[in-house]
Amino acid sequence: MTTARKSDRQDSAQVLSLPPWWPAVLRSVGGVDVADDAQLRRQLPFLAELTSYLNDTGARQAGTRRYMKDRRLRGAYLLYYTTANMLKTSRALRELRYAGQLPSSRSLRVLDLGAGPGTGVAGLAALLPAGGESDRGQSLQITAVDNVKANGAMYAEVARAVAQETGREIRVESVTADASARPRIDGEYDLVLAMNMLNEIPASRRSALLKWCWEHLSENGHLLLIEPALRETSRALLALRDGAVEDGWTVFSPCLRQSGCPALEKESDWCHDDVPWQRPAFMEILDEGMGNIKKSLKYSFLLLNRHGATLHDALRSAHPDVSLQRVVSERFDEKGRVWWHMCGEGGRVVCQRNHRDRADGNADADHVARYDILALRGEEERAHDVRIPLEGTLRISPI
Ligand SMILES: C[S@@+](CC[C@H](N)C(=O)[O-])C[C@H]1O[C@@H](n2cnc3c(N)ncnc32)[C@H](O)[C@@H]1O
Repeated sequence: MTTARKSDRQDSAQVLSLPPWWPAVLRSVGGVDVADDAQLRRQLPFLAELTSYLNDTGARQAGTRRYMKDRRLRGAYLLYYTTANMLKTSRALRELRYAGQLPSSRSLRVLDLGAGPGTGVAGLAALLPAGGESDRGQSLQITAVDNVKANGAMYAEVARAVAQETGREIRVESVTADASARPRIDGEYDLVLAMNMLNEIPASRRSALLKWCWEHLSENGHLLLIEPALRETSRALLALRDGAVEDGWTVFSPCLRQSGCPALEKESDWCHDDVPWQRPAFMEILDEGMGNIKKSLKYSFLLLNRHGATLHDALRSAHPDVSLQRVVSERFDEKGRVWWHMCGEGGRVVCQRNHRDRADGNADADHVARYDILALRGEEERAHDVRIPLEGTLRISPI
């Protein structure tokens, strides 16, 4: 996996790309050669069925169907959705690493809930430092929980193939269980991951699931929740966040505040990340066939812990005396100004910098991208917005 600052883009966002070994894993586990158009096109009907099910979150509120039991849907999921989802842990891992919150122990203990056919293991192997000749990088010790047994088997196969491709030591225990019914799992974990699964369990069971996760975190562990960037699923995550804070959880990131989420105030708002990626050619072919274009990776995420560490505190010690803000919209370029929404300790606010106020100290304003963290100094707080004046400074944090 590589990230690069795009020089030809008008924003600061890092561009993610898949690890070079991923097509080999798809071939050995999924049996699909991604260079073969005919093989790809044969997957389109299964992808269409999967996509209409996954996107129709309202229709399955009364209960979910075990769609992953169907071998063809499972294969199509691995090919398309695992590919599109595996890099979605990237920002969370980067921010944890920045704050010294990713354990540097020999082995990372991970509990992957609603694990599906292998998204978590593929993403972690791609995104955690790879190690060198004599050092194979941090090993992964994963308990993968899914209520479809065949997913557990596929997860273990993906892990084996990834280990073979990367040389990383990966151990997987697959558990077939309903993650929302307090399955019997011993041990404690550095990272509990629930990726695109909360929306598949009844809303009434989600806070109990969080309580169960609390019991399975190591002292310094983190719970990472990732949900689709649909308004409904994202807002449900934000509501869960507010409830979690009341129950004693600390929000590590993306929020830079612990008080209530301002995006919940208006029904039409939600909050999500949007990361550019180098969409591989086979995804372009599948997207074209489905009309479901994943030109960037959109998702909502939430990192929670029970020990009180926050990204805000880690940033604050490096940047005292500045206002820290998370950009929560795209950047709008207008004739005389650039503006965006940002969220920090004081809540959600519009921020703008007029072109006539452009100076070296605030030139980063021209490159602001969604979910960047900004360090502001000398900003002018007005009745309805914040203005960056000529003498004000604005820096995009390089996390
Ligand atoms: C959309 S897939 C997500 C897979 C993977 N985490 C990803 O992000 O690509 C949701 C997964 O959650 C599983 N699932 C749904 N409800 C579950 C439950 N109550 N307990 C365990 N797994 C569940 C499904 O079988 C499916 O594999």
